[in-house]
Amino acid sequence: MRLIRPPDIPSADITPEQLYLRRREFLAGAGAAAWAALPLPLGLATRDARPAAGKGRAADDKPTPYEDVTGYNNFYEFGTAKDDPRRNAHTLRPRPWTVEVAGEVKRPARYALDDLLRPHRPVERTYRMRCVEGWSMVIPWLGIPFRDIIARLEPTSRAKYVELTTLHDPQQMPGQRSRVLDWPYVEGLRMDEATHPLTLIVTGLYGRALPNQNGAPLRLAVPWKYGFKGAKSLVRIRFTEQQPRNTWNLAAPDEYGFYANVNPEVDHPRWSQRTERRIGEFRRRPTLPFNGYADEVASLYAGMDLRRNF
Ligand code: MTE
Repeated sequence: MRLIRPPDIPSADITPEQLYLRRREFLAGAGAAAWAALPLPLGLATRDARPAAGKGRAADDKPTPYEDVTGYNNFYEFGTAKDDPRRNAHTLRPRPWTVEVAGEVKRPARYALDDLLRPHRPVERTYRMRCVEGWSMVIPWLGIPFRDIIARLEPTSRAKYVELTTLHDPQQMPGQRSRVLDWPYVEGLRMDEATHPLTLIVTGLYGRALPNQNGAPLRLAVPWKYGFKGAKSLVRIRFTEQQPRNTWNLAAPDEYGFYANVNPEVDHPRWSQRTERRIGEFRRRPTLPFNGYADEVASLYAGMDLRRNF
């Protein structure tokens, strides 16, 4: 299938996000058959009926340019500067890939990536993402609701949390040769957070396969939490009774908690969290409670002191 584009733009000047947005316009008129025929990382993707970016979505939440989404990253396994991951992540080999499923679960095994993901249909979800450092992006993800994967794996009644672990391989991840963090990178969610409809196991962005610097071949995205919860390049999913330890909490317990819900009322000890800068803009915007997803997720934390559980 060929994409139709106006003749005034030479193809070399069309950016991936223009292509993507144009494809969406085209698809809006072309129907499901055309959608099915397009090459996508995981076959047929479906568009979700649910409003993708939450009810707090502002009218000006347009997707951050592809260049920024894939060129301004935190992925310390490839260096600590924002442009390091794009330059260095080519050493990661996202295929073949296996994911170990362990702990309190009825179907523990080492799954080939396709065996874990293939039964599910990827959906397209545009989420605001807020980094704890004070910048944000709007990213059109492609992924599978984590709840669907979890349902198939059948956690036992003892599973209260899920722990997610990044690959540990200094050959592929040169940043792991220095001890900036205690490798491997580990994150965790409470079970009700992991099975919330917004929580996504991401396999792509902008309608394409996930670039290495964004956590290929699969990573977590939890839009109401600070970005560090979104562990990348996952090799293990473990269901636990106890709250898992998470890397940034271990590195600096006073600065990064387990919950990490976006909260403008709770400052980081070294800076305010009241405002954020959308990458590509100069002005600062107010940061919203739960990153603007409060209507969907605030009830998960009813009765909890969110200053203590930061
Ligand atoms: N996952 C791993 N394994 N290593 C990391 O350094 N950084 C986190 C998170 N996941 C990180 C990680 C942080 S701080 C952020 S803000 C997001 O990834 C950034 O995701 P992005 O680069 O795709 O925007």
